[in-house]
Amino acid sequence: MGKLRLGVLASGRGSNLQSIIDAAREGWIEALAAVVISDNRSAFALERARRGGIPAVFIDPGAFSGREEYESAVVEVLRGHGVELVCLAGYMRLVGRVMLNAFPGRILNIHPALLPAFPGLHGQRQAWEYGVKFSGCTVHFVDEGVDTGPIIIQAVVPVFDEDTPDTLAARILEQEHRIYPEAIRLFSTGRLKIAGRRVLIEKE
Ligand code: GRF
Repeated sequence: MGKLRLGVLASGRGSNLQSIIDAAREGWIEALAAVVISDNRSAFALERARRGGIPAVFIDPGAFSGREEYESAVVEVLRGHGVELVCLAGYMRLVGRVMLNAFPGRILNIHPALLPAFPGLHGQRQAWEYGVKFSGCTVHFVDEGVDTGPIIIQAVVPVFDEDTPDTLAARILEQEHRIYPEAIRLFSTGRLKIAGRRVLIEKE
């Protein structure tokens, strides 16, 4: 079987993108980053892609009259690179109907909190402010809601009294870099089965 072709969408620094690129390079996942797309011209994620010899495409949302037109352009680029699985990695836009219809059950996201707690922006800070003793991160399928899709895997980290939102975010990020490639590996080997809201992981 060929390698699963990934399209990664990122708006910022791209450390999760890097963990995916590295896992693919090391042969830990049977996948390759076929294209990286950003809605932010100066996203460091685009630079990481270029350094890795991966096509890096900036698509300016301002150049389109609405979300559907913008997403159609994104879908065209993804299809043009033969993408089979879309990975959102710090992508700061809501995904709409056009992308969901183009890649049904084939869009993943990583969120820096234990969903369904603390969805939306700054999950790490929300958790810290709330005062939880444990937080973590979640990889999930994307649906039309904000961080509401079926959960694939989660990792838990403790929250210490000495933590700041930044130290907590750093502890969570380490786990993000571990579980995102892991989720892609499970998807690429066909081991994820969606049963309603539950994602079941078939034994090897
Ligand atoms: C991560 O914390 C991710 O969970 C969230 O956005 C951040 C992106 O970081 N969705 P990076 O761009 O991958 O470094």
